Amino acid sequence: MAELRSRRSNLAVPGSNPRFLEKAKGLPADQVFLDLEDACAPLAKPGARKNIVAALNEGGWGEKIRTVRVNDWTTEWTFQDVIEVVGGAGANLDCIMLPKVVDAGQVQALDMLLTQIEKANGFEVGKIGIEAQIETAQGLINVNQIAFASPRIETIIYGPADFMASINMKSLVVGALHPDYPGDPFHYILMQILMAARARGVQAIDGPFLQVRDVPAFEEVAKRSAMLGFDGKWVLHPGQIDAANEIYAPSQEDYDHAELILDAYDWATSEAGGKKGSAMLGDEMIDEASRKMALVIAGKGRAAGLSRTSSFTPPEE
Ligand code: GLV
Ligand code: MG
Repeated sequence: MAELRSRRSNLAVPGSNPRFLEKAKGLPADQVFLDLEDACAPLAKPGARKNIVAALNEGGWGEKIRTVRVNDWTTEWTFQDVIEVVGGAGANLDCIMLPKVVDAGQVQALDMLLTQIEKANGFEVGKIGIEAQIETAQGLINVNQIAFASPRIETIIYGPADFMASINMKSLVVGALHPDYPGDPFHYILMQILMAARARGVQAIDGPFLQVRDVPAFEEVAKRSAMLGFDGKWVLHPGQIDAANEIYAPSQEDYDHAELILDAYDWATSEAGGKKGSAMLGDEMIDEASRKMALVIAGKGRAAGLSRTSSFTPPEE
């Protein structure tokens, strides 16, 4: 988990708008995805490919994960999106995001195309990762196979707007609860995606919230998926970035506590600590399962750049 790259906030940037592409470089998002799909009108897509290649090759993205979202396989654009973007800027690109994935075959098709482009351009095979968006009923029932379809898979992403359309869900706001519905209609979908991602050992990412000026409502929605264990969420507007970065990182207190558990458990199981399988940390009993839970929180905290504000002292005999 320590090697996990932080994806708390994933900023959507339309590839058709050079001004937005330039502005995105300076924003504090963990990841950007430069969009050739739904944020680009069909007539603007060829120009957007060129803008994206130029923006990636110009650099200035700092430590951000750089992803390009191509069009889905039912369109006439996907192959050319991938060839032009990876061929033109593969050295400066981390992942391709594939939207509306319905089965493992679609991921494998992208994997094969990427392999050829990597070979043709002298890149290491496997350099480019794949992020798979689950946005339809069909995608959700196949999500487990999709997660295991290629070693390139880095994230499984929930796409609420297309998903809600796919299942005919009534709602006033994409990604938010209908005020008349008593429960959380997204829980089932989020959990399916999370299980597939965790079984495969990749990140689970929540999708967009479209009421971009309502930051408190964004926070409410983000907290739900963060509590389940999701690693991050899309942000559509600079105003959502800080909220996502905070909500998907552990709090300083939880991070410190997780690091303490790791140290205390290490010590307890050591020769000096008496080779014990469980131990007390203050009033809390910790064992191997506590260590696993602590590893997750510590991993997310380290990836988010937190540093410890406390240290472990072995108890006096
Ligand atoms: C994102 O692509 C969505 O459809 O919500
Ligand atoms: Mg979508």
